[in-house]
Amino acid sequence: MVLAQNEWSLSTWRSRPIAQSPTWPDTAHLERVEAQLATKPPLVFAGEARRLLDHLALVADGKAFLLQAGDCAESFQEGSADAIRDKLKVVLQMAVALTYASGVPVIKVGRIAGQFAKPRSEEFEEVDGVRLDIFRGHIVNDEKPDAASRRPDPERLLAAYHQSVATLNLLRAFTTGGFAALSRVHQWNQEFVANSLEGKRYEVIADDIERALRFMRACGIDLQDDNSLQAVEFYTSHEALILPYEQALTRRDSLTGLWYDCSAHMLWIGDRTRQLEGAHVEFARGVSNPLGLKVGPSVSRDELLRLVDALNPENIPGRLTLISRMGHDKVNDLLGPLVESMRDEGRRVLWTCDPMHGNTFKASGGQKTRRFDDILSEVASFFQVHQTLGTWPGGLHIELTGDNVTECLGGGSRLLEGDLATNYTSICDPRLNATQSLDMAFHVAEFLQAYSAARGARSL
Ligand code: TRP
Ligand code: MN
Repeated sequence: MVLAQNEWSLSTWRSRPIAQSPTWPDTAHLERVEAQLATKPPLVFAGEARRLLDHLALVADGKAFLLQAGDCAESFQEGSADAIRDKLKVVLQMAVALTYASGVPVIKVGRIAGQFAKPRSEEFEEVDGVRLDIFRGHIVNDEKPDAASRRPDPERLLAAYHQSVATLNLLRAFTTGGFAALSRVHQWNQEFVANSLEGKRYEVIADDIERALRFMRACGIDLQDDNSLQAVEFYTSHEALILPYEQALTRRDSLTGLWYDCSAHMLWIGDRTRQLEGAHVEFARGVSNPLGLKVGPSVSRDELLRLVDALNPENIPGRLTLISRMGHDKVNDLLGPLVESMRDEGRRVLWTCDPMHGNTFKASGGQKTRRFDDILSEVASFFQVHQTLGTWPGGLHIELTGDNVTECLGGGSRLLEGDLATNYTSICDPRLNATQSLDMAFHVAEFLQAYSAARGARSL
């Protein structure tokens, strides 16, 4: 293992079999773009990635909770300031609900500023008798069903980089420039959310927080001076799928000499690209960012153990987040043995729950959708498994948007199949809208409270 580690270089992944890779029609063009990207400034800094790693080590230790949330796939058409702001509002609201109820720090990580690539189950699809390349996300091609739009275009790597830069720039401004200050807790409740039950429930917490702040001010504490009340640390993440892009943005940190993929703070490997000998695992093991690994129903205990050792050979807490995505009907049977084996083998991983990807189906109108109740049921089982095993249910990984979309059924907005067509804008998977996201946060907050109560009772 030590030997293999030494053999890593930026390009060792290129000699491995690669899954989910687009067939670029013009490889010389791709190489020109890679060279260009390699000269661009990094999006994030190594020191920031290390700081996130420290936070995630707290999660691995049961002392914090990870909220990872954002789009399924970001769109080149939807990078407006309003869209970014509204997504951030929902994440802040969820974080408030979770922090307030659980009393543990919530680490906020967006699926944002780089989440452009999608793994797909088919390489081609037939539309009106014509065979087209499948849509793989805006970093590769466009979803319009014609041959020209579907042709993989390397220029899109540059466009993805520039949109990520712009998005991250705005996020940094919002999260440190006053917008995310706790004194603005009421302003994150969008109008269409505020009128719902969940919105009203949020207002109650927001009132409580305001009262607490007033109390502290009256006691003579200078709240303006306290950076932890004025700002949030918000980190970025995406699936490291398009490796030419990831390699081009990977840089050696001058302080430590280690390699960091500076396209985002945290990167994850998808369930379809996690082959032990494959290109994606090979690339990821050599960068020092915090990593995620999606864990679907087909992973065996043995396979998981080998993957964990390949990606985190030094067993560093915070380095590896296992993102379980089993499906609500399978999680009860499949997750326990994996969590147990990690626990018993002493692997210091952090478990989070992605209740979205195992619960997708086609509605009668043809749209891809998910039931809020299935999503919630998977999260409930996830907590149950950890409670039984005495391990920490470390986080939640969800797909959401700040808009009032109609993509998932039920939940706070009580959507029915007939409503799906009203405002279905996702270019890939169905996302929770702002009300449904807040609804989810309140449920998870209750799970966290129940978990802590049970843990407290056990330790008495
Ligand atoms: N900085 C603290 C935190 O991130 C408190 C805080 C400030 C906060 N603004 C927030 C928490 C918005 C949640 C949402 O936890
Ligand atoms: Mn998705």
